[in-house]
Amino acid sequence: MTQLINIIDRFIDFFYDFYCGIETRKNIELNQLNISSPDKINGRPYQGTRLRVFKKIMGKFSPFLPLENSIFLDVGCGKGRVLFMAKSWGFEQIWGIDFSPQLICDCKKNLGQFAKKQKNLNKRNRQKIKPILASASQFSSWNQVDIVYMYNPFDGNVLKKVMQSWEQQLATNKELYVIYVNPLRSYLFDLHPGAELLSSVRSWNSNNEALLYRFRSSSKFMIESSLE
Ligand SMILES: C[S@@+](CC[C@H](N)C(=O)[O-])C[C@H]1O[C@@H](n2cnc3c(N)ncnc32)[C@H](O)[C@@H]1O
Repeated sequence: MTQLINIIDRFIDFFYDFYCGIETRKNIELNQLNISSPDKINGRPYQGTRLRVFKKIMGKFSPFLPLENSIFLDVGCGKGRVLFMAKSWGFEQIWGIDFSPQLICDCKKNLGQFAKKQKNLNKRNRQKIKPILASASQFSSWNQVDIVYMYNPFDGNVLKKVMQSWEQQLATNKELYVIYVNPLRSYLFDLHPGAELLSSVRSWNSNNEALLYRFRSSSKFMIESSLE
């Protein structure tokens, strides 16, 4: 059954790329890429979120999210599939960061192709989708972001640094919604006094799930490094 679902998913993703004129399906190992960030050893390879999975996640989590007038950020956006899929959900801006110059270049090429195919994507709308070259641990605009999407981009060492940046950068009353897909380091959220689990979704494949957290800055931030 799982194999059949995988085949169907691959077909759907093939047609999505074809329809949008993009290439986001081919997985890439990080050792095939020139990445100068020291976080490279903690990162996970490029693999796009499946279309059906994204639809399922957004279908379940969208009632909790501030969709309009908000900035959505895919952390580790790779070739940008999530940025294009997110366009249907009415966000004011859609940003993606990745630490690989080649993946950001591929993402920009895809954006050009996507804009050509989508007749309603005028220049202004196209500028709402922004691929940015940055390591998540060095990103300095978290306070502008409302919704963070992470498809398990890195290990706990980098996630801890990222959560510390949130702690330092987010204004006191700011709320950050975090969609964490394949959440292998969810214990870091469970340990954080400012993180609240709002919802979860599972089922497209028994090994996979996605969690939705609301994160608020908390002066009590403390993560036991010994747990990693
Ligand atoms: C599993 S892929 C997810 C791709 C995309 N988010 C999606 O769901 O279609 C993980 C991505 O995270 C990127 N990545 C890993 N560590 C990173 C870091 N510290 N900062 C920024 N990007 C990172 C990798 O280059 C890769 O493109």
